[in-house]
Amino acid sequence: MAAKIAVYPGSFDPVTKGHLDIIKRAANLFDEVVVAVLKSETKTSLFSFEERKEMIEKSITGVNNVRVESFDGLLVAFMAKENAKVILRGIRGTEDFQSEWERAQINKMLDPTVETVFLLSAPELSYISSSAAKQVVSFGGDAAPMLPAPALEALKDAYLNKRKQ
Ligand code: PNS
Repeated sequence: MAAKIAVYPGSFDPVTKGHLDIIKRAANLFDEVVVAVLKSETKTSLFSFEERKEMIEKSITGVNNVRVESFDGLLVAFMAKENAKVILRGIRGTEDFQSEWERAQINKMLDPTVETVFLLSAPELSYISSSAAKQVVSFGGDAAPMLPAPALEALKDAYLNKRKQ
């Protein structure tokens, strides 16, 4: 039987403890999890793809069936390239559901062979977002409950060096 691959796409700018929880839970459910980091020409990110990839990899040491790749353009094209049929997304609450529902339907329209699978965020992590973590750190707050250590350090460093998004 073909290996069950789940593709977990996102900006991961930077990866949060919420993302990591989804990655680790998915790694128990699928043979392989491909974290697909959006490398967009149009969407500006604070961190480069290489920085985001490094933060994710440093945060998932010990989880062997996860790899990090970049993608650009349509997600379904990346799915075809990877020969993967499952898109994985986390849902934190009803607002996420609204936008994820639309995204999943569009992806289904573009490629009916692809399924989107949702995992509900752990309740204690459901308030976390990359943008909120960036705001907390930029104003000098402690974002340790929101971010894995490599992302927290990189974010502190970025704001210390006055990097602008
Ligand atoms: O972490 P994010 O920013 O919520 O991730 C959004 C992402 C990368 C999943 C989304 O922007 C995406 O899928 N982009 C690829 C473009 C695409 O395939 N669009 C069609 C479906 S809306």
